Amino acid sequence: MTTDHPHLLSPLDIRHADGSVTTLRNRVMMGSMHTGLEEQPDGIARMAAFYAERAAGGVALIVTGGLSPNAEGNMFAGMRTLQTDADAPPTARSPTPCTPTAR
Ligand SMILES: Cc1cc2nc3c(=O)[nH]c(=O)nc-3n(C[C@H](O)[C@H](O)[C@H](O)COP(=O)(O)O)c2cc1C
Repeated sequence: MTTDHPHLLSPLDIRHADGSVTTLRNRVMMGSMHTGLEEQPDGIARMAAFYAERAAGGVALIVTGGLSPNAEGNMFAGMRTLQTDADAPPTARSPTPCTPTAR
């Protein structure tokens, strides 16, 4: 795999609009996967543990499972939505515009 993708395990700098840089330790990304934990009462803590295990396994960038901005976009009844600040997990941060920079 590293022969076909020689840069896969090398770091990647992501430059933000404010000039700051986030360095990903590699270019391995975990795609979005709605696990169902999102709707559980203790789901935030369980999701944190779930994603922490993947990060410990080495993935550099994780896209969390999809949430709808309101009930109209729900894929199933009872799906968690993001309509107010209170709906956001405590650890959620607003994404800032950024540009990947290959090394
Ligand atoms: C159980 C499961 C849950 C998923 N949840 C989401 C999701 O919430 N949002 C999303 O954009 N994609 C979701 N996907 C799609 C995956 O991110 C991915 O695009 C898909 O599995 C195809 O990946 P592949 O091309 O590597 O096989 C989900 C896939 C699976 C199998």
